[in-house]
Amino acid sequence: MKLKDVRQQARQRFNNVCRVCRECNGVACAGEFPGMGGIGSGRSFMNNYKALANLRLKMRVIHEVHEPDTSLTLWGKKLTMPILGAAVAGARTNFQGILTEEELTCSFIMGAIQAGTVAMTGDGPDSVQYAAGLKAIRDAGGQGIPISKPRDQSSLIQNLKEAEKAGCFAAGTDVDAAGILPMRAAGHPVGPKSVNELRELVKSVHMPLVLKGIMCVEDALSAAEAGAAGIVVSNHGGRVLDDAPGTAEVLPEIARAVGKDIIVLADGGVRRGVDVLKMLALGAHAVLIGRPLAIGAVGAGAEGVRLTLEHLHNELKVAMIFTGCANLMEIGPGALWGNGTGTPMNSHR
Ligand SMILES: Cc1cc2nc3c(=O)[nH]c(=O)nc-3n(C[C@H](O)[C@H](O)[C@H](O)COP(=O)(O)O)c2cc1C
Repeated sequence: MKLKDVRQQARQRFNNVCRVCRECNGVACAGEFPGMGGIGSGRSFMNNYKALANLRLKMRVIHEVHEPDTSLTLWGKKLTMPILGAAVAGARTNFQGILTEEELTCSFIMGAIQAGTVAMTGDGPDSVQYAAGLKAIRDAGGQGIPISKPRDQSSLIQNLKEAEKAGCFAAGTDVDAAGILPMRAAGHPVGPKSVNELRELVKSVHMPLVLKGIMCVEDALSAAEAGAAGIVVSNHGGRVLDDAPGTAEVLPEIARAVGKDIIVLADGGVRRGVDVLKMLALGAHAVLIGRPLAIGAVGAGAEGVRLTLEHLHNELKVAMIFTGCANLMEIGPGALWGNGTGTPMNSHR
């Protein structure tokens, strides 16, 4: 099967829930939440896309990089590419039941593994959401990262302990879901977490804890102070707060502030291999992909997810050849035009 057939099939199955646009930039689906769009005006989603599109790459073609090495090790797990599946949940609400929660999460987890990487799974007001994700990861021998909503402390600790029992190699919470109303309406209050509460979460399990939804230096430093193993610079794909900046706008100062203390992942509007390279040049260790993998899953299940990830992987390799980066450590500000220009290629990070 070809990626173009996956997208065509997804367009038909989605029946306008997602238009599978040529440019997945949040314009056609603005305000469609629940659904695939960004919340409110849709600008936070659009800002993600625009922030990446506004960056230019510095072409370098006189070098000896023929086969760039895209591999990395994340919390002891070797991945072929710095590209992971994002947490995407809500088959009934966001996808209007086109597929089941189990089909959605299995497609993400299995498709990512088949591509040599891993995916996250999500959580929501309906208990099937976290459970389906965790089951998919457990069935895959723990190869996945479940992301639980920032529920009350004891429910959240319980979810983390279940993740540990399922053999997950890392788990986390999307701290940016602090104000999500449907969770409260369904009797699962979510809210902001203090540094002390985060420290308690870190200590409650013996696996790396990831905090997803960090958009400012203050929160990044608090995450590090609490002992988190990683953060995801993310505005939840523009689905929680209107008029948030694009993640690529805030990533550089956050990555600079936390230094080497913590793994920095980033997501939002990553659509091509050049976008992956841009996020890494701004300081991310790896990126997450949301909607394009959802399209893959609806189009052809795990195969659609795998094909989408492999396509991005190939594009990243090409982008690395064109910017003269032999491995991920060599991707830094010097790969961007006008931002860190003059930095020698081998001293980006
Ligand atoms: C339909 C949908 C459902 C999502 N569900 C969750 C979730 O349950 N938990 C979570 O942390 N993030 C969730 N997200 C956000 C993604 O994990 C990710 O941050 C975002 O989609 C990245 O942006 P992109 O879609 O532009 O790649 C969801 C996103 C979408 C589009």
